[in-house]
Amino acid sequence: MSGAASLPERERIKELRRDLRERLELEATAFSADGREFSYEAPISADIQVGGWVVLDTTDGRRFLAQITTEDIAVTEGPQINLALDDDQDHQLQGGRMTQAGFRVRIRHTAGSGVLLARETDDGKLVPPRQDDTFDAATIAAADGEIVARYLAAMSGTRAALRMGIVERCAGDPVGYLRADGFDRHTFLCGQSGSGKTYALGLLLEQLVLHTDLNIIIIDPNSDFVRLGEVRQGVAPKDARAYRARAKALQVLRPSAVAENRRKVLRAWFSDLAEAEQASALRLDPIADREEYSELSAIAASIGERRYSLDDVLERARSAEAAAGRDLALRIENLHVAEWDVWATGKQPSSSDVIRESTRATVADIGALASASEKAAVSATVLGNLWRRREQRRPTLIVIDEAHNVCPAEPANALQANATEYCVNIAAEGRKFGLYLLISTQRPQKVHRNVLSQCDNVMLMRMNSRADLAELSDVFSFIAPSLIEESMRFRQGETLLAGKIVPTPLIARVSGRISEEGGADVPATWAEQHSRKPRAKRRTNP
Ligand SMILES: Nc1ncnc2c1ncn2[C@@H]1O[C@H](COP(=O)(O)OP(=O)(O)OP(=O)(O)O)[C@@H](O)[C@H]1O
Ligand SMILES: [Mg+2]
Repeated sequence: MSGAASLPERERIKELRRDLRERLELEATAFSADGREFSYEAPISADIQVGGWVVLDTTDGRRFLAQITTEDIAVTEGPQINLALDDDQDHQLQGGRMTQAGFRVRIRHTAGSGVLLARETDDGKLVPPRQDDTFDAATIAAADGEIVARYLAAMSGTRAALRMGIVERCAGDPVGYLRADGFDRHTFLCGQSGSGKTYALGLLLEQLVLHTDLNIIIIDPNSDFVRLGEVRQGVAPKDARAYRARAKALQVLRPSAVAENRRKVLRAWFSDLAEAEQASALRLDPIADREEYSELSAIAASIGERRYSLDDVLERARSAEAAAGRDLALRIENLHVAEWDVWATGKQPSSSDVIRESTRATVADIGALASASEKAAVSATVLGNLWRRREQRRPTLIVIDEAHNVCPAEPANALQANATEYCVNIAAEGRKFGLYLLISTQRPQKVHRNVLSQCDNVMLMRMNSRADLAELSDVFSFIAPSLIEESMRFRQGETLLAGKIVPTPLIARVSGRISEEGGADVPATWAEQHSRKPRAKRRTNP
């Protein structure tokens, strides 16, 4: 053989490399120069990952609970190894002979950084680290769930805690809680289709109903929460009893075509809409259709304070002397707007009245309404009423699932633009009036930027687009981008939680719904294999 070490020689070198790598493997160590953040190096085999909880033990006996925020693979050059080759092997080269071989060992390891969350005192308390909590050498190892649970309990204080599932990336299965008082900020829930947003939202609503007195209005475009008051099978009897007692005050408003309870019908009077929304519903432009627009205003003014339906407007428009009145009547007839299922008549109360009188949670099931225009009209009415009554300062969480249909980045029509404007107003100024948003969508770009940018809490589920992650990192710069990136590896139900709802951003696995889910996925039975029936024996004529 020429030009290389012989086979047994190569095996010997390989073994040597392995041995050296093991011997030279880095010990996991960390240091902190400011008592807030730390840097670390650790062997590849160490159980350390972004979002993971770790314990750092310093050489002088201090212990910290910390969290990894970045992790990279690094390679360092190890020592140079020189080998004398055996004489008895064939190391002949053309024109010479190989007597020595040399190589440099390269050691792969991980290196990154993290945040110090708490220092453990001698009596076992977890306290915030101080500026002088610096150290130049600490061991680093995956944290046990017990210390994580202790930290989360210490940080949540005496406020109500909402059980959301299990905290991940530590040993054991500590229960993950959200701080209920964190919902006095706007919240953004994002994840690709099927990531588990609606399931998580349902669990969160159950917990808010169970443990807080916050008023909740849910705009439900997929009828996903119509069974929020019904306990699912398998829930422990004690939990079921507690939930039933609290969920009594929950009401579901559904369109008349599907409503089982005649007193809980999703309805609006035409007079519930502000002038601009009335015009939007009739596709009236204040400039291009100025005469009809003005006629509508005049009719509304002539009716005065009392509530009225679109039929009332139509009647007055038909009998108007001005041509604009008759044009308005023709418009209403041609658009068939007066025939919408959602209009209240006679003595029927409007949903806004019902919501106003409610002391707890209301689900507005716009999913079962026939048209997108009706859905937009109801959304605008509900949001508009909340906004107009803001001075009452009644703490209310406004939950909008599939928010891209209610406050999209680019509204598709005038009614959607009205609803979006209310969302933008509530996002910007609602907090001081006790109006808090919780919006859920699949992609950040789909909702209006002025709504997104006002959110301080984030619940991020599985994402599959790097462009979306870049957008999220841009808007939510208080979350480490590497944590946001982790969402690409999430399984269904896993979520990154950040903002006032948690003491530090953390990854949890959502579980433990109490109530039934509503709008079920379309069953996939069409993909089941056709059973192969045994072919009937052909009859042969005798
Ligand atoms: N944490 C979970 N535990 C158990 N089942 C879950 C969990 N999360 C989601 N699922 C189930 O997965 C399915 C899809 O979840 P979900 O409807 O919440 O997704 P989504 O993110 O809202 O999707 P879309 O954007 O399409 O509305 C549902 O049938 C739900 O029951
Ligand atoms: Mg959903």
